[in-house]
Amino acid sequence: MKALLVCLAATLFVAATFVVSPRASHATAALFDGKVQPKDVVLNRDPKTNDPKGKPSVPFSHENHATKNYSADMKSVMGCAECHHTDQPKSALKGVLKTSERDEVLTAAVLAKADAAPVKDCRSCHAQEGSKPASLAANPDVLYPDESDPITMTNEEAYHRNCITCHESVKKIKADTKAPTTCAQCHSGGGQ
Ligand code: HEC
Ligand code: HEC
Ligand code: HEC
Ligand code: HEC
Repeated sequence: MKALLVCLAATLFVAATFVVSPRASHATAALFDGKVQPKDVVLNRDPKTNDPKGKPSVPFSHENHATKNYSADMKSVMGCAECHHTDQPKSALKGVLKTSERDEVLTAAVLAKADAAPVKDCRSCHAQEGSKPASLAANPDVLYPDESDPITMTNEEAYHRNCITCHESVKKIKADTKAPTTCAQCHSGGGQ
């Protein structure tokens, strides 16, 4: 009888763990399975707070950027590959971009197909300085035509180049834009 009770208790414990844990991690799972577009994201979730250069988190509306007229000239919806640059065929790559991981340019419809490959988040190839990204041997180096030394695309470099370059262009056509361009506007610590 005692053995049975122990066994029952163990079963209940295991069952409880299984029921509770997927719920607790539900939001994370939905965000990271690579098949669901996030709505609102917090970037820089784990800032290096012990580093004097560390900066607070950055709230980012994926929904606004993926569905509104947020292109640099604010006239159209930008393509997914504007940010997810490896999710386009080799023939579509421009400038210094060389790496293609999808034969068809990423769109919401492409992602909705049952056999669509998941979207990798930026960090999986652009890790924090000093860390190895999950999908590459090291953070990629990029040599720009107007520079003499290659730049290592850490998360900081990659995101800043992607986000800030466009926001600077937006500011030229809309002086009172809400697109942030200063450190504190982006690293507001919001959204957590
Ligand atoms: C302005 C840049 C930008 C645009 C445009 C954009 N995304 Fe994203 N996307 C991101 C960022 C940044 C993340 C979050 C990465 C993270 O959480 O670290 C992300 C995350 C995702 C994820 C979740 C990845 C994961 O880790 O689970 C999916 C899926 C996704 N995007 C699909 C799309 C699709 C489809 C489009 C076009 C309809 C699109 N994105 C347009 C920047 C963008
Ligand atoms: C347009 C928004 C934006 C602006 C403006 C901006 N940042 Fe960032 N910054 C980001 C994002 C997004 C990341 C990377 C988030 C991630 O990896 O999840 C980042 C990453 C960083 C990191 C690396 C943090 C870490 O621990 O990995 C530092 C340091 C940083 N920014 C400093 C600055 C400074 C200093 C300025 C002003 C000169 C600035 N940022 C301006 C959006 C911005
Ligand atoms: C599968 C790996 C991978 C993923 C995922 C990835 N990158 Fe990159 N990224 C690279 C590589 C590799 C390079 C160097 C150029 C090349 O080989 O295409 C690069 C280069 C860049 C550059 C410099 C190129 C330029 O045109 O100035 C930026 C900016 C950048 N990535 C931003 C991002 C952002 C933002 C995300 C997420 C929305 C992201 N990357 C996701 C691998 C990746
Ligand atoms: C190709 C252009 C483009 C890129 C890339 C881009 N943005 Fe934006 N962003 C915009 C525009 C356009 C607006 C809205 C400007 C307005 O309405 O005044 C905006 C607005 C914002 C806002 C204000 C709140 C909102 O959602 O409207 C935040 C915060 C922001 N962007 C963060 C980011 C971050 C972080 C990245 C990089 C991961 C990024 N953006 C990449 C064009 C861009």
